[in-house]
Amino acid sequence: MALNLAELGMLNPAADVAVEAGAHVSTRFRRSARILVVDDELHVRTMIGAALERQGYDVQLAGSGHEAMEALERNVFDLVLTDIVMQDGNGITLLERMRIQQPNLPVVMVTAIHDISVAIDSMRRGAYDYLLKPFEREHLVSTVERALTHRQALQESQNYQQNLEQVVRARTEMLRQAMEDLEHSYDVTLEALGDALDLKDSETEGHSKRVTAYTIALARAMGISPTEIKVIARGAFLHDIGKMAIPDQILRKAGKLTAEEQQVMREHCTRGYHMLRKIPFLSGAAEIVFAHQEHYGGSGYPNGLRGAEIPIGARIFAVADALDAITSDRPYRAARSFDAARKEILRCSGTQFDPGVVEVFLKIPNELWHELRSEIMGQDKRFSTFDLVHVATPPTL
Ligand SMILES: [Fe+2]
Repeated sequence: MALNLAELGMLNPAADVAVEAGAHVSTRFRRSARILVVDDELHVRTMIGAALERQGYDVQLAGSGHEAMEALERNVFDLVLTDIVMQDGNGITLLERMRIQQPNLPVVMVTAIHDISVAIDSMRRGAYDYLLKPFEREHLVSTVERALTHRQALQESQNYQQNLEQVVRARTEMLRQAMEDLEHSYDVTLEALGDALDLKDSETEGHSKRVTAYTIALARAMGISPTEIKVIARGAFLHDIGKMAIPDQILRKAGKLTAEEQQVMREHCTRGYHMLRKIPFLSGAAEIVFAHQEHYGGSGYPNGLRGAEIPIGARIFAVADALDAITSDRPYRAARSFDAARKEILRCSGTQFDPGVVEVFLKIPNELWHELRSEIMGQDKRFSTFDLVHVATPPTL
């Protein structure tokens, strides 16, 4: 025998509590199913209503399609039984309106035997089933139960779909968080590399962070994408990492380097490139490290690349690097002003620097470089491309 929805609900009130506690408990135990019975003949609707109430269903009666639509606006129903031929219009019109407003609400058409073709047509229009008058009470009850089971299956399917969407959203967020954590770990690793270089080449202390912030600001002003900026930022931060492989007597030599020593010093680009290129998250940065001493006009090293042969990140870095070098103290000269740096960079536009980068650089006011410089010098927190991307926000040009 089929489950009696209402009796189960009434006989087991604790089931409601169980439903609240567990998402997978069937919704059929929540409450008596509510059924709307629509028929313009009072005795027919009363008889159907009474039969269903005896089964424990919560029944509401409507004497016309109009009354039915009003009832549907005020209450939630699990099922509608409607006569097909009524005085104020037919049940098919009512069916179509309900299908538009509540597509998941099952509708059972009730009709006399001579309307069978209309009843079948109503199935095509979305009715769940039909009952031919006169019908046995058992037939009514079994049809109603099937329709409600169908309704419940639809709801469970929708709930499942919604849960699935929530699960996918939650998992996506977890993945994003994991990627962010991983990226943070990368940055911590980068800082360790930067610290190691600072220990070896104390003259550059702070230079890597400043030049990274300047590079990010310039890259943003040039409209480079945030993803690409992260790669460029890492390349800028690690640009001199190859100096780890340069002997101390050359790296720390106070006087002028001999031609031979200069040759060794120049190897730092290639050394840095080979150090980084095999590390997947630094392979893009390795290209910038490799090309960071190239000059736009072709007079740089190690490969004498010119123009667009030089990665854009390296062309941007070159301007940022010069800006920091000119405005920082060196053992052999004092720091010069940002205005002096502007003049010098403009003078070398087209020879050492990409004129396109210089043009954007010249539009950025000195205040930004001052701000970035003091912010970087003042911070003792760990290196993070996220932090730097946040810090290095140029004004709208
Ligand atoms: Fe360098």
